[in-house]
Amino acid sequence: MIHDPAAYARSVGLDPAKLPRHVAVIMDGNGRWARTQGKERVEGHARGAKSVDDVTEECCRLGVGQLTLYCFSSENWKRPQPELEFLMALLKQYLLQERAKILRQNIRFAVIGRRDGLSADVLAEIDENVRLTRENTGLTLCLAINYGSRGEIVDAVKAIAGRVRRGELDPAAIDEDAISASLYTAGMPDPDLLIRTAGEMRVSNYLLWQISYAELWVTPRFWPEFGVELLHDALRDFARRERRFGGLTTAGSN
Ligand code: IPE
Ligand code: IPE
Ligand code: MG
Repeated sequence: MIHDPAAYARSVGLDPAKLPRHVAVIMDGNGRWARTQGKERVEGHARGAKSVDDVTEECCRLGVGQLTLYCFSSENWKRPQPELEFLMALLKQYLLQERAKILRQNIRFAVIGRRDGLSADVLAEIDENVRLTRENTGLTLCLAINYGSRGEIVDAVKAIAGRVRRGELDPAAIDEDAISASLYTAGMPDPDLLIRTAGEMRVSNYLLWQISYAELWVTPRFWPEFGVELLHDALRDFARRERRFGGLTTAGSN
């Protein structure tokens, strides 16, 4: 049977015309979840991988264009060494173990963040997933790994300055599109919806340029508790939002 994302969306009470094209997620609260279970913090990270799986699969079913997951920030290096080692090992395991599934689901795999600081074996697994899925046409699954938005903007400014110095770019021609095209997210649509789990009302250096007009949705639930039902709640709320982009309401205003 051929899968029809619009029919599936309607079957779960979602209007396919009102789905976000790009969903970005700050997957937070793994450590706090583990504590509620009397477990070590790292067990929360391991359980969080299951939520990644469930949410990715559901975005595929619904025909969402892109899912961008904050996996590891450039500030997360401040964590204790054993936790860092666990996170990197988990990441490598995920990249390897999910490969067959990603291919089966027609997912295009992408990564944003700095390569510097990541180990050669993690980079090799990332590159292999990108290479193998290059021609895929389904969901773009973008992982933010060693990602920080300010660092991304610094890298973009350096790239633009280099093009100016080489005479390839006239400073007068630098516009918003030129900046967008110099970010790690070049060619990707901006997120329409930003989900954050675990209740924190902050963006933690995530996609600062790209979320200018994203709708924000925060749940107190921890990432390991997040799944299909909460994703649907976020998408239902998103469908009810009126996005004005600085203009007036479509119904007119008075
Ligand atoms: C999110 O969970 C995962 C990463 C940042 C890698 P946390 O590890 O931040 O969990 P809390 O916020 O301490 O509960
Ligand atoms: C944001 O969570 C980073 C990721 C989810 C990877 P943090 O737990 O690092 O954010 P803060 O420290 O609460 O702002
Ligand atoms: Mg946290």
